[in-house]
Amino acid sequence: MKVSIIGGGGLVGSSAGFALQCGGVVREIALIDVNQELALGQALDIMHGGPSTADQIISSGSYEHIPDSDVICITAGLRRKPDESRLDLINRNTDLFLGILDSVKSVGTKKDAIVFVVSNPVDILTYVAADRLGLPLKQVIGLGTQLDTIRFRSLIAQKLATPPTQTSALILGEHGDSMVPIWSSATVAGLSLEKYPGWTPNLANELFTRTKGSGAEVISRKGGAGFAVGIAIRDVIHSIALDQRRVLPVSSVQDGCYGIRKVALSVPTVVGRTGVVDRHEIDLWPKEMQGLRNSGNVLRQTLETVLSRVSKRPA
Ligand code: 2OP
Repeated sequence: MKVSIIGGGGLVGSSAGFALQCGGVVREIALIDVNQELALGQALDIMHGGPSTADQIISSGSYEHIPDSDVICITAGLRRKPDESRLDLINRNTDLFLGILDSVKSVGTKKDAIVFVVSNPVDILTYVAADRLGLPLKQVIGLGTQLDTIRFRSLIAQKLATPPTQTSALILGEHGDSMVPIWSSATVAGLSLEKYPGWTPNLANELFTRTKGSGAEVISRKGGAGFAVGIAIRDVIHSIALDQRRVLPVSSVQDGCYGIRKVALSVPTVVGRTGVVDRHEIDLWPKEMQGLRNSGNVLRQTLETVLSRVSKRPA
């Protein structure tokens, strides 16, 4: 399987490339970037580690890699400032993102290619990609709240001294300020988190608040996320590459799950080689359901503004 990463010269894109190399599953990783020198440097640095990781092709270049790619991952875009919301980025990133979509369309893609959006605001841009590329909706996926979910799990595990891999807690909705913690199904080793030693409602609020602010915290401390977002991207691409059909909180254009339509956000999604294979409308507490619907409304408002701008720009 060939994965092209548009934005592969940057921190997020190159971290995703490194995570895919360490994962050893995909056959080829192509780093594409407007700064071709940087993409070449990142590809070279990753390739040098190949003899000790996996037998893969690590390449760099431009849109010539798109037509034979199975997954086209788009990480390119400006990073937000610590005090800027992901939705604030929309004006600065939309035109850049539309240019990328137009380049992808002009060179063409495989019929069954999956377009995987990471650039922020990811839910808005996932919808725009689905709207603009003409691929089946199920073949356009956004990273959504997969990164928030592993951050959430890591912070809970750190606080309770539980094994991170056995600490399960979902974040759904917007990858942004209206994201929703799903406590109703949170567990440690299959045991309800609510009954776990040391768990209190205050701790729950503290951990979710820190999760929601983790993107800004990492930006303020080191300029931007790299390692964890690379891992989150690898989780999704491996589920596609191996047709694992993992249930992941990724973003896609909704058509009725939880009564939500015409907006892209994260719900429990079965991810396989064909993209969105299915969605699971698991039972939620009323306040979780309300939070999810609120996320949809918040995103829809921004989407309407963006779509009115996008429609004025010729494809
Ligand atoms: C984050 O939360 C990049 O949006 C991503 O760090």
